[in-house]
Amino acid sequence: MSLDRVMVGLDIGSSWVRAVICTIDSDGNLMVDSVCERPSEGIRQGVIVNIEQTIKTITSVISEAELQAGADVSSVIIGVGGNHIEGVPSQGVVGINAKDQEINREDIFRSLEVARAFELPLDREILHTLVQEFKVDGRGGIKDPIDMLGHRLESKVLIVTASSSICQNARKCIQRANFQVQRLISQQIADAESVLSLEEKEMGTILINIGGGTTNMVAYTSGAPVYTGGILLGGSHVTNDIAYLLNKPKIIAEEVKQQYGNCHIPSVDPHEMIIIPQVGNLPSIKMPKKELSKIIEPRMAEIFSLLQVELEKKGVRGSFGGGVVLVGGGALLSGATELASEIFRLPSRIGFPEALHGLDRSYINPKYTTVLGQVMSEAKRIKDTSSSANNAKRDKHAPTFSKKVKGFFRTIF
Ligand SMILES: Nc1ncnc2c1ncn2[C@@H]1O[C@H](COP(=O)(O)OP(=O)(O)OP(=O)(O)O)[C@@H](O)[C@H]1O
Ligand SMILES: [Mg+2]
Repeated sequence: MSLDRVMVGLDIGSSWVRAVICTIDSDGNLMVDSVCERPSEGIRQGVIVNIEQTIKTITSVISEAELQAGADVSSVIIGVGGNHIEGVPSQGVVGINAKDQEINREDIFRSLEVARAFELPLDREILHTLVQEFKVDGRGGIKDPIDMLGHRLESKVLIVTASSSICQNARKCIQRANFQVQRLISQQIADAESVLSLEEKEMGTILINIGGGTTNMVAYTSGAPVYTGGILLGGSHVTNDIAYLLNKPKIIAEEVKQQYGNCHIPSVDPHEMIIIPQVGNLPSIKMPKKELSKIIEPRMAEIFSLLQVELEKKGVRGSFGGGVVLVGGGALLSGATELASEIFRLPSRIGFPEALHGLDRSYINPKYTTVLGQVMSEAKRIKDTSSSANNAKRDKHAPTFSKKVKGFFRTIF
């Protein structure tokens, strides 16, 4: 009997709603069966503002993905992003119960539960509890304390929280579209899963997703997440600026931005001229490319500067040897890496999603990192849960713990 199961990621973005259907085998390997997208309706700045329109878009994109994959979908993994996502540092300390003072999974579980037991404001819910490090009897920098000896175990975590009402609206749309919600994932964590290597996390990296209405960010130092959040500005604000200042419809502004836009003025040839199409029968107009960059650069600089202020406000320090990685549709804007390098004073690159089995090359594009990361993150959780459940069964200290393992992994991912 095949143990393969179908998994569906759904990224409800401000510009596009994207779905990916994958098959996951018993070893946790993913095979992509289909990827589909539709322009968003009813979503503004990453938040659902019209339930009926969103349901229509969701239904249409999943139906198309089902058709292409030849699969029936029952539940979906949804991503949530934007400025309501917040990473809260916390810690939990427990004593080691076992007579031989050996740390087991149950001790880790208890320390994480203590770390999560803080007063959560009414309209917040916890999406992830991400382990930064463990300390045993005050000695830090430990990634896996199992089987170590000690009296006191301390876990340092980043708890990723989100607005409950925004999450509830997303759940409601999925349920009203006749699907179940398998899991809610922060888009920032999904991006990191699909783009960042272990080495980059270890060296310290800032990952920025420039979407249509939002820009999400997650930062890692010494292999651990230290910040997650976002701001309500994105590529559509750049388009709006062009439309307003050139007095053109948004559709033309978008075309001009994608074709000629560059957000780093020093990279633009001062003599290069561009042709701006007109509506109706009016003749096209010519303008220096540099003038277009003068419209675009301030907005993109504002986005990067606000993100930098966010990191400072949250006291995120440390070395970022892995530099800045840009993803999302907005990362495709020419000059984005140059401008990010200048503002963050760090090397910068465009991030591409991992080439999963079955994934057409056309999707190895920064626009698809979030939706692919959502299924990758869930696949990793399933894989780790089953291997840990097997280990727990063999654990002489915690024979009853295997039952708790499922809940444990729901907690830490
Ligand atoms: N080639 C390109 N050059 C410049 N900008 C681009 C290009 N392609 C797409 N974009 C911009 O990317 C943005 C959309 O990105 P993306 O599809 O990642 O957003 P989204 O996920 O729907 O939105 P959000 O993450 O904010 O909810 C748009 O503003 C679009 O103008
Ligand atoms: Mg997005």
